[in-house]
Amino acid sequence: MTGRNIAVGPVILLGAPGAGKGTQAKLMAEHYGIPHISTGEILRDNVARGTELGQKAKMVMARGELVSDDLVNAMVADRLNQPDAGRGFILDGYPRTVVQAEWLDRELAARGQRGPVVIRVDVGYNQLLQRLTGRRTCPVDGKIYNIYLQPPKTEGVCDVCSTQLFQRVDDTEEVISERLKSYERQTKPLEEFYQKHGRLRCVNGDQPVEKVMAEMFRAIEGGAAAAGTE
Ligand code: AP5
Repeated sequence: MTGRNIAVGPVILLGAPGAGKGTQAKLMAEHYGIPHISTGEILRDNVARGTELGQKAKMVMARGELVSDDLVNAMVADRLNQPDAGRGFILDGYPRTVVQAEWLDRELAARGQRGPVVIRVDVGYNQLLQRLTGRRTCPVDGKIYNIYLQPPKTEGVCDVCSTQLFQRVDDTEEVISERLKSYERQTKPLEEFYQKHGRLRCVNGDQPVEKVMAEMFRAIEGGAAAAGTE
């Protein structure tokens, strides 16, 4: 059976900034043939295009704080309405508060979708700092690099399309520290929320990308099988 034949359903990736959610979500989405929905990427795209949503989110994101639940929930509702989200999707960076998680549960039930498989990616604090300060991204294909851990073949340019890589404005030490605090304060409580529903699975994110990926496959497929029997 190939990944694309597996009924994965909704998958949520939880984990601190820099845990590798985006890196893994892209690989999972490709493997299972379902969309990768990153609220951070959607917000950054709105900021870049100067939309009304982007103008509201810009300063909040630059400070490393969370954008309001209402704005983000509306954005996710919009994305889930697109036809490619029917078979399942990987949510990266959403939900991030208990209010968002409760909203998502209601939304999935209203759409007749089953409960999500929730995977927490665990990485130690010092490794997170190195990952975030060293991250560089391709603006064209979204490929993620790290100058210390996963450098491109030629310094500063994408291996795939040779475009100049950029550093995210929120990847400075000061903003990283705020983002990690927001995570502890507002997103950590979600672990208990999903634990209570028996949905939380954990993978060790502090190992090479391929090994994390193998653990993710096991967690997703085990979780999807369990959700199918609920
Ligand atoms: P968002 O874009 O979601 O950022 P984040 O959660 O802080 O997560 P990151 O994208 O920084 O890290 P990641 O875990 O995806 O790591 P990555 O794979 O890139 O959110 C940004 C902002 O938007 C928020 O601060 C908030 O303001 C707003 N926002 C977004 N969603 C919101 C919501 N739901 N509610 C309210 N506000 C919201 O990897 C990091 C680095 O590590 C890379 O360089 C990579 O190459 C490297 N790496 C990855 N895996 C490995 C590995 N196994 N080994 C070695 N290096 C690795």
